[in-house]
Amino acid sequence: MKLIRKILIGLLVVFIAIQFYRPEKNISRENDTAMFLRETNPPEEVRDILQNSCFDCHSNNTRYPWYNNIAPVSFWLADHIEEGKSELNFSEWETYSDKKKDHKLEELYEETERRSMPLKEYTWTHQEAKLTDAQIEAVVKWAKDTRSLNQLGNRPK
Ligand code: HEC
Repeated sequence: MKLIRKILIGLLVVFIAIQFYRPEKNISRENDTAMFLRETNPPEEVRDILQNSCFDCHSNNTRYPWYNNIAPVSFWLADHIEEGKSELNFSEWETYSDKKKDHKLEELYEETERRSMPLKEYTWTHQEAKLTDAQIEAVVKWAKDTRSLNQLGNRPK
């Protein structure tokens, strides 16, 4: 019994200690997805979907839930965001080459179509980010149309 008590107290001390460490938040002041939205010109519906279901992990601005104030959850979220951004960051769209943009749009509709995105871990706690069949269809259509426009060299400037 004594040992178990010591272990529990030890765990509690560790839990309290890690609360003093906070990963840096992913919040930029700029409205930096504007370039992406201007260039790919999604219809209103798709714009809302991207905003509600994707930008938290794929842009420089995350809307944090309250539980991000608790470690180790904060570290777990920071990790997802960092990984998501390294794959695709809508805030840095203008730094991508035309070839990379095209490839990312392709990945985007593939991931959405096979329901790999948004991540399940995210929709558990963000029910509103879950996509309906109609929403998935809208995203896929917009991404495909944008790609073929780009390939024709008609990318809106
Ligand atoms: C909770 C965070 C999170 C959310 C929300 C999220 N993603 Fe992701 N995304 C990731 C992570 C992490 C990866 C990299 C690991 C992987 O592929 O599973 C990723 C990878 C991707 C990739 C792969 C890029 C490549 O080049 O291989 C695409 C495309 C993508 N996400 C699109 C989306 C879209 C579209 C949405 C919204 C419908 C979305 N994601 C929502 C975290 C997220």
